[in-house]
Amino acid sequence: MKVSPSLLSANFANLTPDLEMINDSNCDLLHLDVMDGVFVPNISFGFPVMKAVSKVCLKPLDVHLMIVEPQNWISHVADLGAEYMVFHQEACTHIHRTVQAIHAAGMKAGVSLCPATPIETLEDIIGDLDQVLLMSVNPGFGGQPFIPRAVEKVRKLRRMIDESGSRALINVDGGVNASTGALLAEAGADILVAGSYVFGAADPRAAIDSLKVL
Ligand code: DX5
Ligand code: ZN
Repeated sequence: MKVSPSLLSANFANLTPDLEMINDSNCDLLHLDVMDGVFVPNISFGFPVMKAVSKVCLKPLDVHLMIVEPQNWISHVADLGAEYMVFHQEACTHIHRTVQAIHAAGMKAGVSLCPATPIETLEDIIGDLDQVLLMSVNPGFGGQPFIPRAVEKVRKLRRMIDESGSRALINVDGGVNASTGALLAEAGADILVAGSYVFGAADPRAAIDSLKVL
């Protein structure tokens, strides 16, 4: 399993030890949650903070934009050297154009779906995607309880991706821990995002390893 710890649950008053932990850990990506107070009822951090993080972090960045008009921020995300730019289906009218523009900027493209958005909305774009980020909580906050229906959604998306021959990886975000992670792994997830489970753990590297083995 690939693991993408979410910086949202790190210590914002002193990020250095948390970033050193990420660099020394077996995680695959670092997940950065950008919130605008419009698409979601919360504001997290923006580009100046991510720029500083990108200079220190040795792991590829998995940037999750929970913002309206994500297409306006492609060059900013590319400037971070991000591996993935992931935006919400619910926040973007021209998904096809945005995916092409992300690729043209040299990044991998991901689309995220809120819990109530059906995977069928991706049927005509799945072949162009590098990642689908299924939300297993309502976006906006760390530490929320896992929505169990996400497991069947992963299974259904696995089928859609395999049948279409798409290269898209299935990433799941929200309420992930070793037990919900095991259900998601069995259903066909490729990447797990984990915020509070990793940064709230006494031993965050061990928490990452407990997801890596799934
Ligand atoms: C929520 C964010 C998540 C969040 C997950 O809107 O997209 O990435 O950090 O936090 P946990 O793992 O604590 O549910
Ligand atoms: Zn996220």
